[in-house]
Amino acid sequence: MHAWLCENPTGVDAVAWKELPTPQPGAGEVLIAIKAASLNFPDLLIVQNKYQMKPPLPFVPGSEYSGWIDAVGEGTVHFKLGDTVVAFGGTGAFATHCCVDAKLVMPLPAGFAMNDAAAFVLTYGTTQHALVDRAALKAGETVLVLGAAGGVGTAAIQIAKAMGAKVIAAASTDAKCELCAQLGADATINYSTANLRDQLKALTAGKGPDVVYDPVGGDLAEPVFRSIAWRGRYLVIGFAQGGIPALPLNLPLLKGASLVGVFWGEFARREPAANARSLAELASWYREGKVKPVIDRKLPMTELKQAFELMSTRTVRGKLVLCND
Ligand SMILES: NC(=O)c1ccc[n+]([C@@H]2O[C@H](COP(=O)([O-])OP(=O)(O)OC[C@H]3O[C@@H](n4cnc5c(N)ncnc54)[C@H](OP(=O)(O)O)[C@@H]3O)[C@@H](O)[C@H]2O)c1
Repeated sequence: MHAWLCENPTGVDAVAWKELPTPQPGAGEVLIAIKAASLNFPDLLIVQNKYQMKPPLPFVPGSEYSGWIDAVGEGTVHFKLGDTVVAFGGTGAFATHCCVDAKLVMPLPAGFAMNDAAAFVLTYGTTQHALVDRAALKAGETVLVLGAAGGVGTAAIQIAKAMGAKVIAAASTDAKCELCAQLGADATINYSTANLRDQLKALTAGKGPDVVYDPVGGDLAEPVFRSIAWRGRYLVIGFAQGGIPALPLNLPLLKGASLVGVFWGEFARREPAANARSLAELASWYREGKVKPVIDRKLPMTELKQAFELMSTRTVRGKLVLCND
């Protein structure tokens, strides 16, 4: 097998494409021949040693992928050779093969495209958990999505629309805003050129958004929280801009508003039955055409460094998928 190995997480140049012995699955594990893996922002952070999870060294980055069962470990009864599957393992995806705990692997539903599956579980799972479970978003409410043309951002536009909400999508370029409009956003704001607070006031008749979905953080958070509606819910998704914002606590008080943390990986670990229900609902929405990953482009698996460069320079619209064919 080949894999991108990270022996010392000092940055994106610390990964190298290496030939390694193909592992055999232990008890309760499966070996997957990887067809496609998608890039998520945490994959960039993890090779820079900036992510909360610090895998033992050396490790293979990449958290989610689709492929075929290539070997089955002892006691693994619900998979057989050749089954098409999708896996969320946290590491191991940027490779040709990966051995993983069978509990982290799901059979691919009929009709689910392999490339879409590789770009689905983390972004849509996070966003469903955020909007449905954590924010209790209701039809007719207004959602502001920041970084709306990114991986989780595009999922948030689609899921919020599927729930009957009005979506204001905010992003850093006109081209990204255009993509958001194509995905169904009711209004867009280019926050590089427009005054975000003035625009939010104008678009909500002074009321502000009911729910804010924020994967960006940094200096956007405080002005946006100041614009939130009475009883608003501000979803803390991530900090792609780099800075972790600090918020004066008088702001939630004055708005009767909530600051709501979202940590999908921990939710999936602690509440597996609830997560399985959420993923099953998402799979049926995929079948019905309500949600579909936006794939910016597909690259060969060997082009991981280019993919890291595109993500860190904010050039990606939707998701990047790395393929082994
Ligand atoms: N809480 C959870 O459970 C969970 C799960 C998955 C992901 N996340 C987090 O969500 C965030 C987004 O992840 P993603 O995979 O969707 O990433 P992504 O596709 O790269 O999207 C991130 C967006 O952030 C914006 N951005 C602003 N400043 C940036 C910078 N300096 N570098 C890169 N992007 C910047 C970009 O939009 P503009 O150019 O339009 O500003 C970009 O489209 C990350 O912080 C990630 O860790 C959290």
